[in-house]
Amino acid sequence: MSKLFETTKLKGLTLKNRFVRSATAEGMATEDGEATPRLINLMAELAEGGVGLIITGHAYVAKRGQASPAQLGIYDDKLIPGLRAMVDAVHERDGTIVAQLAHSGMLAIPKLINTAPLAPSEIEGLVDVPLQEMTIEDIKETIEAFGKAAARAREAGFDGIQIHAAHSYLLSQFLSPAFNHRGDVYGGGIENRARMPVEVVQGIRERVGQDYPVLIKQNSRDFLEGGLELEDSLQASVMLKEAGVDAIEVSGGTFASGDLMPIRRGIATEGDEAYFKAEARAFKERVNLPIILVGGIRSFAVAERLVNDQCADYISMSRPFIREPGLINRWHSGDLQKATCLSDSKCLRPALAGKGIYCVVEKRLQDQARSTG
Ligand SMILES: Cc1cc2nc3c(=O)[nH]c(=O)nc-3n(C[C@H](O)[C@H](O)[C@H](O)COP(=O)(O)O)c2cc1C
Repeated sequence: MSKLFETTKLKGLTLKNRFVRSATAEGMATEDGEATPRLINLMAELAEGGVGLIITGHAYVAKRGQASPAQLGIYDDKLIPGLRAMVDAVHERDGTIVAQLAHSGMLAIPKLINTAPLAPSEIEGLVDVPLQEMTIEDIKETIEAFGKAAARAREAGFDGIQIHAAHSYLLSQFLSPAFNHRGDVYGGGIENRARMPVEVVQGIRERVGQDYPVLIKQNSRDFLEGGLELEDSLQASVMLKEAGVDAIEVSGGTFASGDLMPIRRGIATEGDEAYFKAEARAFKERVNLPIILVGGIRSFAVAERLVNDQCADYISMSRPFIREPGLINRWHSGDLQKATCLSDSKCLRPALAGKGIYCVVEKRLQDQARSTG
């Protein structure tokens, strides 16, 4: 049997295979961030499709951290019943689900948050709105918001949480010298730039205890001049492990990284796949934690090699599951054709507009089939 279909334990959590649905903002919640039946159905469909671990789209831990309309929220206790319904739908189908907790910092949408976005530093010209540099009090409040959100996730029945510290969202902004120009204890060398994410982990641990799975998604590099580099990222991950992180999902890139952004297009050959593979190997060598690798993985053979060659312990995908929620069952049944995802990223548009995620190509094909049939 392929190692990909082995049952494993991740901090006491039993996973039926090594496949992960990477966090994918679905744009299917209510205006207030509450889970809707449509979003719950999507999670149920993913669980039925056989993926070992589902990570929700990033859920905002504070209203000021909202990144897009109809984004899932986890900033208030009133959201717990909807989140619980989502978890129940997954558990009823023998699935496992972790909530991704996020604050978008400078990438928050002013029209949605009705104020200036918070940022580690007030850098001009990065985004086309004025930013507000976070005070120490803002930082403490945000750390508390992450802690409370984690407690809500646990109360709603999630099997764990993942902290979003990648892709130039708030915690990634703190880690990055391109976005963090602070002169206090939260800026400067990597020990200082990692302080905020480390305190977030500590705050979460205080609220959820030592036994609850706490994962993190981290940038290996920003692929940006003056941005976070691999060595600093590795040092940060060692600090995050000491603070209580149980697994790292390795990603990379920022909104300003051009072609080297987190969600890359045009993955045509096996050589284009797993575009953070070299970085994942460095994490495996340096940090003694399970490594989840994301970014352009499309072929079963590539996934298998990544695990066999000890580049990664888990294989994470986002876009392939938008087109094929049943991809893992397909592979498990012996049909090992690569994922049909074209990696054109057209799915981003409806998701970020709050219209609900779907594969644009697949929908067009289905519409054509209906009109000709
Ligand atoms: C529509 C869409 C929404 C995404 N939302 C999130 C998110 O909420 N949190 C996150 O960490 N990454 C998010 N990502 C990035 C993916 O998790 C993943 O890192 C990236 O798409 C590369 O993996 P892939 O090549 O398998 O798609 C999103 C990607 C897409 C396409």
